[in-house]
Amino acid sequence: TSTYEANRPHLHYTAPSGWINDPNGLWYDAKDQIWHLYFQYYPYSEYWGEPLYWGHSVSEDLTHWNYSGIAFSPPKNNTGAFSGSIVVDHNNTSGFFNDSIDPRQRAVAFWTYNTPEDQTQFVSYSLDGGYNFTPYSGNPILNISSTQHRDPKVVWHEESQKWILTLAHSQKYEVLIYSSKNLTSWQLESSFSHHGIMGYQYECPGLARVPIVKTFHSDELPSNLTDSDEVWSNSFFDNGTNSSLPDTAWVLFLSVNPGAPLGGSVNQYFIGDFNGTHFVPYTSQTRFLDVGKDFYAFQAFFNSAGGTDVLGIAWASNWEYGQYVPTTPWKSSMSLVRNFTIRQYAPNPESVELNLNSEPILNLDGQLKNETSFKIYNQTLLPSKPLSYNVSKPTGVFEFDLTFTVDDSYYNNTIFADFSILFRGSRDREEYLKIGYEANAASFYIDRGHSKVSFVKENPYFTDRLSVLNEPYEMISSNLSSYKVYGVFDKNILELYFNDGSEVSTNLFFFSDRNFVGEIDISTKHDKIFIIRN
Ligand code: FRU
Repeated sequence: TSTYEANRPHLHYTAPSGWINDPNGLWYDAKDQIWHLYFQYYPYSEYWGEPLYWGHSVSEDLTHWNYSGIAFSPPKNNTGAFSGSIVVDHNNTSGFFNDSIDPRQRAVAFWTYNTPEDQTQFVSYSLDGGYNFTPYSGNPILNISSTQHRDPKVVWHEESQKWILTLAHSQKYEVLIYSSKNLTSWQLESSFSHHGIMGYQYECPGLARVPIVKTFHSDELPSNLTDSDEVWSNSFFDNGTNSSLPDTAWVLFLSVNPGAPLGGSVNQYFIGDFNGTHFVPYTSQTRFLDVGKDFYAFQAFFNSAGGTDVLGIAWASNWEYGQYVPTTPWKSSMSLVRNFTIRQYAPNPESVELNLNSEPILNLDGQLKNETSFKIYNQTLLPSKPLSYNVSKPTGVFEFDLTFTVDDSYYNNTIFADFSILFRGSRDREEYLKIGYEANAASFYIDRGHSKVSFVKENPYFTDRLSVLNEPYEMISSNLSSYKVYGVFDKNILELYFNDGSEVSTNLFFFSDRNFVGEIDISTKHDKIFIIRN
């Protein structure tokens, strides 16, 4: 394999070659037990272009994907089959299916037909379980004579027994909410407009009913603590249950590009209630689904397995530089699949908030896992005693799991307590990805700038240093706080899950040769700062 191929992500979906962006049409075939992922696809180049297709891939475990061709094309060359979604029309409300098609495989796709004149919404249905599609003869199903009207996401609303479609009226900052009984004639019900971060335009809205986890686990306390020590933590309701909360809440996902606080693309969400016509957020706050630079156009799977789980995927890149990253012959990858729940957590000792919690779904093959995972147990880090680990067989794919207890009392808050983990390249130790901590900021950062790759050095938007965590997991006393970090490295992508998934940061990084981490160095400049436990 070429160096390039060796750098291809293993756990994150990439197309065989060419350009991809948003995940589209995510659904589960409960008959054949297959997950379907479609995506914005321009196979002829490593840049976005038209005709833009829906590429298609399938998976049995949500980690390993197989490319299965182009699902459908736009009718003309200089046009695009833009982003959209798929539902399973079990009861044949659309009339597209006859009895020979298994109810669990009645896939109906909604997508935006992009032409130089306008963006209109199209329906296509599949008679072979999602591999080939036939356009509905009555297309378009929605046309408001706008060039900025796109990204239909359809869900089922049980109480009103209606289909609900959300659409971005992008540059009006509106999420338009439509309802339908038959998937082809739609009625406008409401508009959720001018909320949260607006930037240049809204894209890829979506509604999902997300389970609320009411119970909280308590984590083991560090051994140097006694029961009398006061502990504030994000496991605030230790072993408790808050029964006043509902079982589920609705979440509205909304992408914005450009205009992210970190530059370029960002995915925000609102938690609230949806009554079948209107979405009403519980609070005026907007939150970020991922605080990194490379997580956009998130979409949830159509929940056809009958369960309540909300799983979804984002495009793991950023429109600021996604077309120029040094990978070939493929360009861009998807995020890992994440499972979402709503949990109460305490960002600080005075507030309790509802927050979307993310957990990666990963099927690491046993071999990979044994060779490359590492955990660090009870250790105290000293300036004279840095910790160093060699990855015995560097593959560029591994997970790590650490908890740090930070004692900053020694410095009386006058000196930055610092700490860093360097993930060094296996071929060139001077190329490394750094995760650092500064007590003064009480925050972690990531630094992806220590690379010899010209794209990293020269692209003005491939920002080096980003803050990746805003709050500790536990504040054990006024001077002692702890942080939890779970990371998945996959060749050129690092997903960092902090504090059991209350905050996630996904970022691309590039080394000049093989993107394989060979050595991990943990060090501090100050005394008595860290107890590392697991
Ligand atoms: C978001 C987006 C969508 C559009 C698609 C085009 O990344 O701009 O709004 O449908 O990409 O590829």
